[in-house]
Amino acid sequence: MFNNFMNPDFFSRRCVWVNGPVIVGAGPSGLAVGACLKEQGIPFVVLEKSDCIASLWQKRTYDRLKLHLPKQFCQLPKFPFPEHYPEYPTKKQFIGYLESYANHFDINPQFNECVQSAKYDEACRLWRVKTVSSTNGSEVEYICQWLVVATGENAERVVPEIDGLKEFKGEVLHACDYKSGEKFRGKKVLVVGCGNSGMEVSLDLCNHQAQPSMVVRSSVHVLPREIFGKSTFELAMFMLKWIPLWLVDKILLVLAWFILGNIEKCGLKRPSVGPLLLKNTRGKTPVLDIGALQKIRSGEINIVPGIKRFSCGMVELVGGEMIEIDAVVLATGYSSNVPYWLQETEFFSKDGFPKSAFPNAWKGKDGLYAVGFTRRGLSGASADAVKIAQDIGKVWKEDLKQKKQKVPTHRRCISQF
Ligand SMILES: Cc1cc2nc3c(=O)[nH]c(=O)nc-3n(C[C@H](O)[C@H](O)[C@H](O)COP(=O)(O)OP(=O)(O)OC[C@H]3O[C@@H](n4cnc5c(N)ncnc54)[C@H](O)[C@@H]3O)c2cc1C
Ligand SMILES: NC(=O)c1ccc[n+]([C@@H]2O[C@H](COP(=O)([O-])OP(=O)(O)OC[C@H]3O[C@@H](n4cnc5c(N)ncnc54)[C@H](OP(=O)(O)O)[C@@H]3O)[C@@H](O)[C@H]2O)c1
Repeated sequence: MFNNFMNPDFFSRRCVWVNGPVIVGAGPSGLAVGACLKEQGIPFVVLEKSDCIASLWQKRTYDRLKLHLPKQFCQLPKFPFPEHYPEYPTKKQFIGYLESYANHFDINPQFNECVQSAKYDEACRLWRVKTVSSTNGSEVEYICQWLVVATGENAERVVPEIDGLKEFKGEVLHACDYKSGEKFRGKKVLVVGCGNSGMEVSLDLCNHQAQPSMVVRSSVHVLPREIFGKSTFELAMFMLKWIPLWLVDKILLVLAWFILGNIEKCGLKRPSVGPLLLKNTRGKTPVLDIGALQKIRSGEINIVPGIKRFSCGMVELVGGEMIEIDAVVLATGYSSNVPYWLQETEFFSKDGFPKSAFPNAWKGKDGLYAVGFTRRGLSGASADAVKIAQDIGKVWKEDLKQKKQKVPTHRRCISQF
């Protein structure tokens, strides 16, 4: 503790004691934890680097985006979607829902505060969370007993290094900056990546009379969004209750073959590992087809192999073929940003995900929690949020009891700040 006072940095920033947890991130995960804490009367602070809630949804997604799982799998705890919402809500509807959610639970994040570092102080047995304001550069240090990491699996865009890309003269953008195909009308666009983003951006480009070529450098599982009128995801979850995962994978592939046909004929090679196993072991999400496959079949989306290099207005593909292009959309995925700011290596691994797999990926040591890192989308985040709030709630109630008897030492030390 003394060492901290010796540090000149200590006096240059405002210190705030948080009576309760600090939640980093005001996306669906952070809001869900906040709501579950509110229900128990536990105060908290939500720190958000952007100027709004759910910045991924509000600022970094394309216009045509819809939830790809039925709404009952995407709602956050204790507050259902409005009944009139369709089975697959649009992005606008989802944002509307999240805004009502924050209002309903009276969650007011501290906006424009980017967490730069968070470290557990062994001496005080408290977390020190440092933020910088994006509006005026001011710095604040939050001190708290619990730290909830809710910065998301998709915090940063992944931009691969490809030969010649920097010199390419046409427009290059990541899928998170793509809004609509309108401005690409009539243009030849190379879409790099064939995950859900790559497929949907390619489809959108087609719908706006652009000519997309989609790079498929390895393999991909494509499943229909629905099987016999039931959501594929729901069906898979139902089967998993009764039969092992490998068998569910086999059944899904047979059904996908009946509904979609042999996708290898369209140039889409399937991975040797089944879709659910691949998701669980390597986090690779299967594509839920909403129309791109038909455009691939009709030739409106051209499938091309990996990229060798870009040159002015052209791209050379693995195999030597050269194609002319006007623009590039990098649908090359996202990464977690936890390693940039969290100074902890026991619970989180270098890739910014918890080392333990589901269902043990939500709780670390010393009051550290992670929400929304189990690669299970919104339903996974909701399940984490409920567990985290219950866990903090237990200690909170115990602390309250003890507080009535005596003031804990660490609180006394903080009140001097
Ligand atoms: C295009 C797209 C579509 C998707 N569609 C679906 C879907 O249909 N269904 C589904 O289940 N999942 C979907 N996902 C997955 C998606 O990640 C989750 O739905 C959901 O957004 C996760 O919520 P989250 O709160 O964990 O993360 P995010 O929504 O990413 O929220 C994290 C928040 O933390 C903030 N933040 C990050 N770093 C810091 C920092 N250092 N300091 C302060 N704040 C910080 C961010 O600004 C952000 O607001 C989709 C993802 C993408 C990219
Ligand atoms: N409607 C929806 O709900 C919706 C829509 C979009 C996204 N999402 C979700 O958002 C998350 C992210 O999806 P995403 O599609 O953006 O990312 P993703 O699933 O990680 O896919 C990234 C793609 O980029 C490819 N890639 C990466 N580097 C490359 C390179 N140098 N050259 C060629 N290809 C390269 C990958 O190929 P390899 O496989 O060979 O590495 C992969 O096909 C997922 O969870 C997804 O389900 C949901």
